[in-house]
Parts: sequence; C-alpha cells; structure tokens
Amino acid sequence: MAARHPSAALPSPDEVRGLNNLTGKVALVTGGGSGLGRAMAWALACHGANIAIVDRDGSTAAACAAEIANGTGRRSMSAVAEVSNEAEVERAVEAAVAEFGRVDILINNAGHNIRKPMLEFTCEEFDSLYNVHVRGTFLFCRALGPQMQKRKTGSIINIASILGQVGARNVAPYAAAKASLAQLARVLALEMAPFGVRVNAIAPGYIDAPLTRQHAPDVRKHIIDHTPLGRFGEANELIGPVVFLASDASSFVTGTTLVIDGGWTAQ
Ligand SMILES: NC(=O)c1ccc[n+]([C@@H]2O[C@H](COP(=O)([O-])OP(=O)(O)OC[C@H]3O[C@@H](n4cnc5c(N)ncnc54)[C@H](O)[C@@H]3O)[C@@H](O)[C@H]2O)c1
Repeated sequence: MAARHPSAALPSPDEVRGLNNLTGKVALVTGGGSGLGRAMAWALACHGANIAIVDRDGSTAAACAAEIANGTGRRSMSAVAEVSNEAEVERAVEAAVAEFGRVDILINNAGHNIRKPMLEFTCEEFDSLYNVHVRGTFLFCRALGPQMQKRKTGSIINIASILGQVGARNVAPYAAAKASLAQLARVLALEMAPFGVRVNAIAPGYIDAPLTRQHAPDVRKHIIDHTPLGRFGEANELIGPVVFLASDASSFVTGTTLVIDGGWTAQ
C-alpha cells in the first residue's frame, strides 16, 4: 500500500531556506555604533536589510554604517540622536524614512549601565538609566509603530537583559529598566497583534562588549565561573537570535523574551 502523505502541504526547500531572508526590508538599530548593536546591524544587513544606525556618538555610527555598506553591499545611513530626546528621535526617524521610505524592523538597543548599591544612586543617575532604556524605547516605538500598523507588517525587538529577570547587586535602576523592556514588549505585542506587527525582547546574559569590559578582573572571573557554558558570550552570538526575531522564521512569535545567557538563568 502506498504511504499516506500528510494532508498539510509543506513549504518548498527554497521557502524554508529563505525564512531568514530580509531582502527589501529596512532596519533601524539604536546604539548601533558599538558592541551588540553593531553586530546586530551587520547581521540584518548580511541577510539583506538596508540599515539605519542611530546613536548619540555620530562618529562610531557613521563608521558602522560605512562598514555595512562596504562589507555587505546593502544601503546604510547613520543619524545622531540621544534616544531619550523626543525631538531628536523624531528627527532620526524622519531621516531614516526619508532615506528608505519606511522602517520594517526596529531594534531598541541603545543603553548604558551605572553600577553601585541602590541607596547610593542620585536621582540624576536613576533617571538617566530609565531615560535611555525605557523612555528611549517608548519614543522609538511611538515614532515608528503607527506606520508599521498602517502597513500591517513589522518586527520590534527590545534589547533587555537577564538582569531584568534575576536579582544581582549594584544594578537596581538598570535591572528595573530592563524588566520594563520585557514588559513593554508584552503589552505592545498585544496592542500590535491585530495589525500583524510582532514585538519581542532579547535578554542577553554577560556578553563580552564595552559595557561588560568595565568589570574588575575578579568580577569577570566570577561571571565566567557562574556561567554554565563557562565563558562570556560574544556579541556575534546575538546574530542568530536577532535575525530569527526580525524575520519570518519567527512569524508566530510575539510578546516573548528570548534569553541568550549561556545557561545563567537555568540555575
Ligand atoms: N554587553 C552585555 O553583556 C549586555 C548584556 C545584556 C544587555 N545588554 C544591553 O545591550 C545593549 C548594548 O550594549 P553593549 O554592551 O553593546 O554596549 P556598548 O556601550 O558597546 O554600546 C551601546 C551603544 O549605545 C549608544 N548609546 C548609549 N546611550 C545612548 C543614548 N542615550 N542615546 C543614543 N545612543 C546611546 C552608545 O553610544 C553605544 O554606541 C544595551 O542596552 C545593554 O544594556 C548588554
């Protein structure tokens, strides 16, 4: 007797292999001039997207945009903006839309950290962390969300942190802000789902990047010893996760937080 075929048609091999294809898409990466943002912007370009880098550091942003154009052949541009400044965010978004016509993928990545016991934070330090992470993400979502809703397509990815999920000393405002980014992704995912726009977060663990190179040697050793995979992650290890969430490979994924931490939060 002939084998029965399942009733649902399977996608062709080309369709399966093309799930990560971002050709014709436009991605805007905040904080794209350094570290994780630079690696993620490069990755999206390698899969075909044109890239707008937005950073408060104009020289590194311009260098990364040039690196992408020269190395991948995709179009790129850079804009200078402090992500917590409403007018500067709107100007950067206008510049990206003027250049590319639209933005399909938004990566809310810009950020910094200040490490000290919670009771020693000044209000200015506390506000600076909330402003860059939470207010900055809100401003970019608000600036780009309506055109994504209108076109009924889009992927927004907030770069959160495992420090938004587990406790650690000396990072209170950063941890609270990063927890907020996962929660903003859940809420916005529900609000954007009727329009076919997906919103997710990525929570990296300890990645070897400028932000974590500030750690003292004994702290770095502690991190390595307590990471099940026995090392810091590399910025390039964000490439697979960001391409997955940006592309049709994750077409039924929204409102989630993808943890990339070498097993830290499994303990
Ligand atoms: N490195 C890690 O281990 C790690 C772990 C978890 C989460 N993260 C998050 O990943 C993101 C990137 O971190 P990184 O390690 O690549 O840091 P990084 O310092 O290498 O890069 C941050 C980039 O953001 C830009 N930036 C910072 N504040 C800005 C502002 N207010 N407006 C505009 N641009 C601003 C900087 O100029 C820089 O180019 C951050 O949100 C960070 O919290 C990093």
